[in-house]
Amino acid sequence: MATLDLIHSSNDSGIESTEAPTVYPKTGLPNTHYTDAVTWQEERDRVVAKTWAGLGFGADIHEPGCVYPVNFMGLPLLMVRDSEGVARVFHNVCSHRGMTLVAEKGSAGMVIRCPYHRWGYGLSGELKATPNIGGMGVHSIEGFDCSEHGLKEVRSEELMGIVFINLSGEAPALTEHLDPILTRWGSLAGQDFTGRLVSDTGPYGSMELSVESNYKLAIENYCESYHLPFVHPDLNTYSPLDEHYNLIVDPISSGQGTHVYDLTRGASTPLPVFANWDQSRVKTAEYLSLYPNVLLGIQADHFFAILLMPESPETTTERLQFLYSSEEALTDAYAERRQSLHEAWNLVFSEDVSVVEGMQRGRASPGFTGGVFSPLMDIPTAHFHGWFGERFANN
Ligand code: FES
Ligand SMILES: [Fe+2]
Repeated sequence: MATLDLIHSSNDSGIESTEAPTVYPKTGLPNTHYTDAVTWQEERDRVVAKTWAGLGFGADIHEPGCVYPVNFMGLPLLMVRDSEGVARVFHNVCSHRGMTLVAEKGSAGMVIRCPYHRWGYGLSGELKATPNIGGMGVHSIEGFDCSEHGLKEVRSEELMGIVFINLSGEAPALTEHLDPILTRWGSLAGQDFTGRLVSDTGPYGSMELSVESNYKLAIENYCESYHLPFVHPDLNTYSPLDEHYNLIVDPISSGQGTHVYDLTRGASTPLPVFANWDQSRVKTAEYLSLYPNVLLGIQADHFFAILLMPESPETTTERLQFLYSSEEALTDAYAERRQSLHEAWNLVFSEDVSVVEGMQRGRASPGFTGGVFSPLMDIPTAHFHGWFGERFANN
């Protein structure tokens, strides 16, 4: 690596070369942030809840009436597609006696029924039915106002195929929060690219990996390309380390990019590209860890998002969804290409599992206390530690 490119979204050109900045922490988060259950919950309340986190995919609730329960860091939540087609998130708990409302994903029709005493809620969370509340056959009772007992809603917005939540309700609007990324990728893929994204709900449209690791280690591994030649030898043959650059998209994200993404690699028919992609950068591809739990990848012919769903301090489910530039890309003509992309990325992300899990096992060692950062190669990782540590300490 010769020059290190540090890229700030606020810079007009988007690119600047610089020495490693000195503002990043010298060491990483201590081991308790990867192993300790109390710290894990504190992270949820002090860091994750205060920003926008990925909860699920729009494709999980693809039409009105779809429901999708998610246990998010110990909180039972429920994604719902309402009758207007808007993704909404509620606490997945009945207002009556606190029964978990929905246990399985699927379609609820127009009414979400509690399995205990059959109270019914509309898709916008309003309490609509209280069977037998006043005795058998008496479904209402004086003094009980249904409008006071609807489901409790969690602030949510949907963008780039992802349903995001802001548990505190106090973060800036999602588009404002994501503006550094939307501006950067808007100049690459066209300002309209988020509106063009089409989720692939077919057999090669998604994948899931269970990882015995804290969610933050997946963020940290994804944002750096330093490991590429050693962990991804096949990828390194067509996208070598010295063609990569570091990315800092302040303050919410860090990652890497490459100059040699090849749309035509392989024998299958190349996919259609984003309509307004910058043709002078057709080989540019970028990969960002969007803090605290989303991984994003953009190429001229496809986009993907990975949600890191923290199951416990030491286990995470990684959910990947592919999205394409148009409905045309989902036709049979490109089935082989979509399959080969799925296989290629499945190999890459499976290769990462062993190192992420190895770092997790290392967090049990008193011989490691946060480690050190290369002043060149670990800048994206150090940026994440700075972002996370500052919020954990001050919120
Ligand atoms: S707990 Fe849901 S209806 Fe009673
Ligand atoms: Fe990797």
